[in-house]
Amino acid sequence: MQTENVPSILSVRNLSIWYGDKQVLRDLSFEVKQGQVTAFIGPTNSGKSTLVRCINRLNDFTPNFRSTGDILFRGVAMGTASDATALRKQIGMVFRKPIPFRGSIYENVAYGAQISGVNASTHLDTIVEKNLRKTGLWSEVENILGETPEQLSIGQQQLLCIARALAVEPEILIFDEPCGELDPIETVKIETLVRELTKDYTLIFATNKRRQAARVSDVAGFLYCGELIEFGATEKIFTNPQDNRTEQYVTGRLG
Ligand SMILES: Nc1ncnc2c1ncn2[C@@H]1O[C@H](COP(=O)(O)OP(=O)(O)OP(=O)(O)O)[C@@H](O)[C@H]1O
Ligand SMILES: [Mg+2]
Repeated sequence: MQTENVPSILSVRNLSIWYGDKQVLRDLSFEVKQGQVTAFIGPTNSGKSTLVRCINRLNDFTPNFRSTGDILFRGVAMGTASDATALRKQIGMVFRKPIPFRGSIYENVAYGAQISGVNASTHLDTIVEKNLRKTGLWSEVENILGETPEQLSIGQQQLLCIARALAVEPEILIFDEPCGELDPIETVKIETLVRELTKDYTLIFATNKRRQAARVSDVAGFLYCGELIEFGATEKIFTNPQDNRTEQYVTGRLG
């Protein structure tokens, strides 16, 4: 996909992060474009999770966490003064390990809509069905909605967590290694879904699986030791990188 003329939804400006004395992100600046998948790749401990957690304000209560720089969502800085709960309705997150809530499959999806007061006029049944359909899980669970998610496979549980995140009606959805616990067939389902979701959402995707990033993303950033070495169109990052370290990483010779 072309990236130049697409509007930005998120701007990261000179972001640096420390845990205590240890600096883990170094002066990152980039733009996330609306309706695209932006992937962050890099070896373990390069700072991918730290970065995406900041975009969801999940580090607010991490001890010794310190940041400088700005993250702007639709042009407004999401500093500590703004309401993190309100922000998380607009920016959802899906983690490596699917952790459904206690309660039924139905309640898992309905919960997000209920707490955020989304579509109060719309019947919850409609919201649950709509979002389970979006993830492709509906036909597999429509007859067991009142039962707990434990009987679902890990891949189905991950789809349920995605449906739960979608029910809040976010604008941005962040995925942090969403296939880390999944088998290859389940992984293909999630990758296909990620591409479909770009119709309605902006996606940010952290992974240390290079080929996965190449498959799902429009734009990719290579993080190495907390530095954003290169950021640009995925095709360019993977076929014609400008930095030697990016080239070594995408060809499997680094990390
Ligand atoms: N809460 C924390 N306190 C202290 N250090 C932390 C904390 N969270 C992460 N770190 C450190 O920050 C660095 C970046 O970690 P991060 O988890 O962001 O990397 P990552 O790229 O997501 O790695 P992985 O591919 O293994 O998921 C690591 O050195 C890690 O040990
Ligand atoms: Mg991580």
